[in-house]
Amino acid sequence: PGSALRDSFGRIHNNLRISVTDRCNLRCTYCMPENVTFQDRSELLTFEEIVAFVRVAVPLGVNKVRLTGGEPLMRKELHKLVRLLTAVPGLTDIGLTTNGILLAEHAQELFNAGLRRLNVSLDTLDPARFRSLTRRDGLERVLAGLEGAKRAGFSPIKVNTVAVRGFAEHDVVPLARYCRANGFELRFIEYMPIGAEAWEREKVLFASEILDRVQRGVGELVPTNHDPSSPSLDYAYSDGGGTVGIIASVSRPFCASCNRLRLTADGKLRNCLFALDETDVKVFLRQATIDELGIANALRTSVWTKWRGHEINTATFVKPDRTMHAIGG
Ligand code: GTP
Ligand code: 5AD
Ligand code: SF4
Repeated sequence: PGSALRDSFGRIHNNLRISVTDRCNLRCTYCMPENVTFQDRSELLTFEEIVAFVRVAVPLGVNKVRLTGGEPLMRKELHKLVRLLTAVPGLTDIGLTTNGILLAEHAQELFNAGLRRLNVSLDTLDPARFRSLTRRDGLERVLAGLEGAKRAGFSPIKVNTVAVRGFAEHDVVPLARYCRANGFELRFIEYMPIGAEAWEREKVLFASEILDRVQRGVGELVPTNHDPSSPSLDYAYSDGGGTVGIIASVSRPFCASCNRLRLTADGKLRNCLFALDETDVKVFLRQATIDELGIANALRTSVWTKWRGHEINTATFVKPDRTMHAIGG
């Protein structure tokens, strides 16, 4: 136990990302097509099935879980899943990544269920730009969600901003000021080829350019001690006014220290965001008695067969069939 989920490159997997639905109330252009067919609800793992899976994964070394989507708050009564997970011994860290649209309504019940770590996706503070990017309205709701989360007591609250060149340049400084003023940890994510749109390197706004903009527009940044299991390069304002991170998945991949594995909403294991193969575990969960050995073996095999890293930067890169909303960010 503890190191059972070691891959063939020696990476130990303790961090499980669980997608609870592929549905979403936004249609971010970098993530999914406008016309998307969602999975039938009967395909989605129930909360009980998710928890049964987690109870097998934890003794193998998983201690960190993050709930994702689609939009996880589209799943009715998500706080009930949070409460079930907080009762799993050995699970020390539970997080949620949400687009914030439904957060104002649910912040308090999620907090009461034991959730503390919250990441909210937000790419712009301008309503018209929000609409053009997400193909929906809702900026006010996201801001109210962040406000509600702060009031409920969540900590840390991180804001994730996908940096698409030709778009994000306008938003870097306003978002940095807003997050600094509110105590949110802002992280910019380099745009990755995992959405529905055609991706080119030219569309990535790179880490160095983002940092330049923040420093020119907001204040001097100094690198902080880097946690090798964190996907972001972390910086702090030299005046102590907050932090900024960059998830430089394209210009500086963190694959070499990746500790992540994913469970899709329909019960497939993915050992990488960019994996082309999946391992079904729903088959072991939907039996008269849950096949725990089958699940454990599927976990070990999935992790062991993980490749060295994504190949976004090579000519032979192949985009997975699923787009981001069906994987879980
Ligand atoms: P904490 O560190 O626990 O706060 O969360 P996190 O950063 O792992 O989770 P979050 O859902 O906020 O992820 C932020 C972004 O990092 C995602 O939207 C992805 O774009 C990117 N990301 C997450 N996991 C992976 C991964 O396995 N590979 C790559 N290349 N990018 C990832
Ligand atoms: N590149 C980088 N990040 C992406 N996300 C969605 N699509 C992409 C992409 N193509 C991010 C969202 C959210 C997280 C779940 O995934 O903005 O923060
Ligand atoms: Fe929904 Fe998140 Fe995808 Fe936007 S990035 S469409 S909020 S799943």
